[in-house]
Amino acid sequence: MKTDKDLYRQLRVLSCEKLWNDEVALFDRSTPKERIERVAVIRAVGTVSSESGTAKQKAEVRSWLVRLLQDPSEKVRRYAMTALPKIGAGPVEEEALLSLLRATTVEREKKFLGQALDKIGGTATLSVVGGVPGFLPQTEQKVKASVARREKPSVIRMDSTLSDFTRLRIHLHCRKGLEEIVRDEVKQYIAKHGKFRIVEVQSGLVAITPVAPFSLADIYRLRCFATVGFFLGAVRSSNPAESADALASMMTSSLSRSVLAAFTEGSIRYRLEFVSKGHQRGAVRLLANRAYAMCPDILNDPRSAPWSMDLHPTGHGTSVELRPKLTPDPRFTYREDDIRAASHPPLAACMARLGGRVNHEIVWDPFCGSGLELIERALLGGVQSIYGTDLSPDAIAISRANFVAAKVKAVQSKFICCDFRDYAKVEGLGPRSVNLIITNPPMGRRIRVPNLRGLFGDLFAVAAEALKPGGRLLFANPLRIEPPDPSLKLKYRQVIDLGGFDCRLEMYLKLAG
Ligand SMILES: C[S@@+](CC[C@H](N)C(=O)[O-])C[C@H]1O[C@@H](n2cnc3c(N)ncnc32)[C@H](O)[C@@H]1O
Repeated sequence: MKTDKDLYRQLRVLSCEKLWNDEVALFDRSTPKERIERVAVIRAVGTVSSESGTAKQKAEVRSWLVRLLQDPSEKVRRYAMTALPKIGAGPVEEEALLSLLRATTVEREKKFLGQALDKIGGTATLSVVGGVPGFLPQTEQKVKASVARREKPSVIRMDSTLSDFTRLRIHLHCRKGLEEIVRDEVKQYIAKHGKFRIVEVQSGLVAITPVAPFSLADIYRLRCFATVGFFLGAVRSSNPAESADALASMMTSSLSRSVLAAFTEGSIRYRLEFVSKGHQRGAVRLLANRAYAMCPDILNDPRSAPWSMDLHPTGHGTSVELRPKLTPDPRFTYREDDIRAASHPPLAACMARLGGRVNHEIVWDPFCGSGLELIERALLGGVQSIYGTDLSPDAIAISRANFVAAKVKAVQSKFICCDFRDYAKVEGLGPRSVNLIITNPPMGRRIRVPNLRGLFGDLFAVAAEALKPGGRLLFANPLRIEPPDPSLKLKYRQVIDLGGFDCRLEMYLKLAG
């Protein structure tokens, strides 16, 4: 005998018309026993019509599913309520689900009704669910969140100020190996603007604390960190389910609420993220329900929430941080387009700072891709001209567009499609013409490079020729390879995480002679 799944697979490939004209007609004529055997028809009709049905077909399917909510069989009703949210259900379908909820005494049916209402419920659901004993706690929260999302869409307020900042610790996360560059940028910022104090530097993290009222815009003036989190606390256990109450009370603490209130316009909603652990469905539900019981104004909502509550493994436990979800990152909105092997933008910003600022510089990126290193360097100031070369015409068009979007004033730019070894053919480039070569070369990972060692050997040779005396070559080096030319002297080397693999960030100085 065929299982429901087998039958579903067989029906799933049929067209909307065929399902409706043959299968639904047959289903409606069937005896109660046959209906239970062919219940997969309901699932297939829901899926296929949601994917390829016209508005009229979807409306017919919705009415059919609403009728099936009256079927004497609990299984048929369950399949119907599960299919409904897929095809754009609204208040009529919500009301049909709610009247079944009022009538049923079957716990399992309440659970499935809850799951359907999680997805399509609105204010009518909210007025009912509180009064239904044994109803799933997350339904009320999910429905509240989706009503809030529709009626009070939220945004992060970059410019509003947090005045109640005592006890606040802010974590600036970065890729491992870049901490010193992030710290130096923060130091320079503090020397100019005050507002923060550095508390600690750890692997992949610079911790700061405010010493004056501040806004998120103040923090986002720093370009080198990857993400920012407001530290809410930590527990000893690495299993969040074991410390659900402690974690939930940190998530809803007065500290958390004051940050959320200061920097959110609209409803306060967050997504739970288990950093480097993947999705943990059960733990998310547990924590979200506990937090909701403690503070029903802060809503768990995986869809377009302005905040993320990040649970970080700390080696000996778990910490909670509140992170504004700003996409696109307001610091890098000049990225009109992208290439597949684009640099991580904060890494490009770190490299630009490491390269240093000398006035009237001529800067060249031999493998410019989407242009991030050149743009970040130009944004720091002191640049006369930038040159980008790349083998890919698409990359050249993208870097050109990104540079225009970055609106850097008084910097001449030239983006040329060519092999970097032919640089001397580019007008303005030639031997001893460049102050800074800054680049994130192909690593042979995302895009295969036939002779990677040869390419890096050529990069050293070209740099030794193209740099002016005193000029710098700054690049991410995935190989253990040294320049054969003694006129390139190593000034800086640091192992960094390049997103899952280690690489050496290196800077060489071109000696005179
Ligand atoms: C890692 S990507 C550069 C990413 C870039 N920094 C960005 O932010 O988008 C390396 C680039 O080198 C280019 N490339 C590879 N071999 C090249 C060669 N021989 N000459 C010039 N460009 C080359 C590729 O087309 C690719 O765009």
